[in-house]
Amino acid sequence: METQRFVMQNSGASLVLLDNDGIRVCQLDIKAQWSIGRWDPIRAVTPDISFTSPIVSREHGWISNVDGQWYYVDNPQNLNGTFHNGYKIPRPMAGQRRPVPLENGDILRIDNDDLDHVNRNGVLMLFTTAQVHGEWATCSLQRVGSMYIGRDASCRIREEALYFSARHAKIKAVRGQYYLSDCGSMAGTYVNGQQVQGTHLLREKDCISICDSNYFFLGDRLLYCQRDREMEHQILCETTPSLRPVVLRADIATKRVKNNSGSGMKELIRDIHIEIKEGTLVALLGTAGAGKSTVMNCLNGMDLEGVQGAVTYRGVDLMKHFDQMSYLIGSVPQEKIFHEKFTPEEEFELAAKTRLPARLSRTEIRERVDRTIEMLSLQGVRKNWNCKLSGGEKTRVNIGIELVADRELLCLDEPDQGLSPNYKLEVFQIMQELAHSRGKSVEEFMEEDERMKVAAMRKVASSQGKTILSIIHDVSHIDMFDQVIMLAKVDGVGRLAFSGSPEEAREYFGVDIKDAYALLEREPERFVR
Ligand SMILES: Nc1ncnc2c1ncn2[C@@H]1O[C@H](COP(=O)(O)OP(=O)(O)O)[C@@H](O)[C@H]1O
Ligand SMILES: [Mg+2]
Repeated sequence: METQRFVMQNSGASLVLLDNDGIRVCQLDIKAQWSIGRWDPIRAVTPDISFTSPIVSREHGWISNVDGQWYYVDNPQNLNGTFHNGYKIPRPMAGQRRPVPLENGDILRIDNDDLDHVNRNGVLMLFTTAQVHGEWATCSLQRVGSMYIGRDASCRIREEALYFSARHAKIKAVRGQYYLSDCGSMAGTYVNGQQVQGTHLLREKDCISICDSNYFFLGDRLLYCQRDREMEHQILCETTPSLRPVVLRADIATKRVKNNSGSGMKELIRDIHIEIKEGTLVALLGTAGAGKSTVMNCLNGMDLEGVQGAVTYRGVDLMKHFDQMSYLIGSVPQEKIFHEKFTPEEEFELAAKTRLPARLSRTEIRERVDRTIEMLSLQGVRKNWNCKLSGGEKTRVNIGIELVADRELLCLDEPDQGLSPNYKLEVFQIMQELAHSRGKSVEEFMEEDERMKVAAMRKVASSQGKTILSIIHDVSHIDMFDQVIMLAKVDGVGRLAFSGSPEEAREYFGVDIKDAYALLEREPERFVR
């Protein structure tokens, strides 16, 4: 199995190159234009992305970024074919350029003009905006019969993340063809964004996805990134919140829904452009009815009906792939969802059994429940009935139900509502801890229980650096937050008034944040950009 280590420093795009020399990764976002071509010792200039394969022309094509969108432009003089997701890029008329827009997971292949006869010198480029850290590898499917992807030790491609089932997906070879099926997993298996039902005959351009893990089918092997959670954790630890990669991005032009009488449309929000960084604590604020819940339900992918625009999590479009990504995103509703006559311990145990795709062993469940209780400082009341807990503790149990399920992004709608000041602060502190705390390192965990490193890493990765987005009521502790998003209602439509740090917000509004509400009520137009 060939592997290559690479570290992605930022949130941008990269191109994974695969040819007879192996796998390389080219990080695209350090330049706006890249030339692709064959390396030629005689020529003075080397292409930015160079191949040795004779099938590649000297100047084969260009990759460029125009206003944030990446494109591939093929040289019309190429003798061989360039394919985009299995389709040949047509030759443009002389003197014309026909840019092909690139999306996450797109595959560019340079090969014979006719793909029925694949050239052994063919080269392949995978365009990806997914934020993964780890080793790219290929897994040959030839002469394997059947192979599995999953958490179980018997799987050919073994994955750690809890959204995988023990045996999650299966690929079976039948006379040179490869058939994919889901093994009754909870998180599902997707091909090119469609959930696999029954068996699916794999084709060259297919991208198999399980949550945010992708496997690219290349005819006789899979290309995939084996995520290195220790490295991901390390990178997160070493960067301050403001320098972390953007994980959640919304570019919403509008969201319109049918109005109450059903006869026309009502615009709820307009021009909402928001970026949220990994492992940060973000407050969503706004006057009553400004559209906070509406915006939050777009950002967490729960309600994207009537939205024009895009919402992406880790580079994956939630409008198209929400089901696939839903295991990474947790929404904590305003109302309490726990069982009155359960204890926190029982509640979390149930959540671990019902909300996680992976069937965990008793020990694993115990560990997760204990971690969650510890993270939420519920040790003292773990055996009390939920209905007997204080307001703050009840809120924490509500959060814990999602926390047990190993979400990366937690969205909370007014968790501070109805709480006395002390309890509010307590809840904010817990949220801050979840986002910022780097807690124990892998080494500390290992010293503690001498278990397998993998188990220790899993604990670390799943307990820290959460991204937390919360609508809050009380802004007296706003400086605990890394980012403040402020909405205002203009002519009945929710608009973005501000996004930035609490200090920047004070500077922008010229007053304290609690007083900015009054300004936004009085003259919202002044602040909406
Ligand atoms: N499905 C819907 N149909 C019609 N109006 C809606 C719908 N959802 C929300 N609204 C209206 O949009 C506005 C924003 O709602 P919401 O996002 O709940 O505000 P907030 O959470 O800031 O108080 C409100 O005036 C609300 O009545
Ligand atoms: Mg609301």
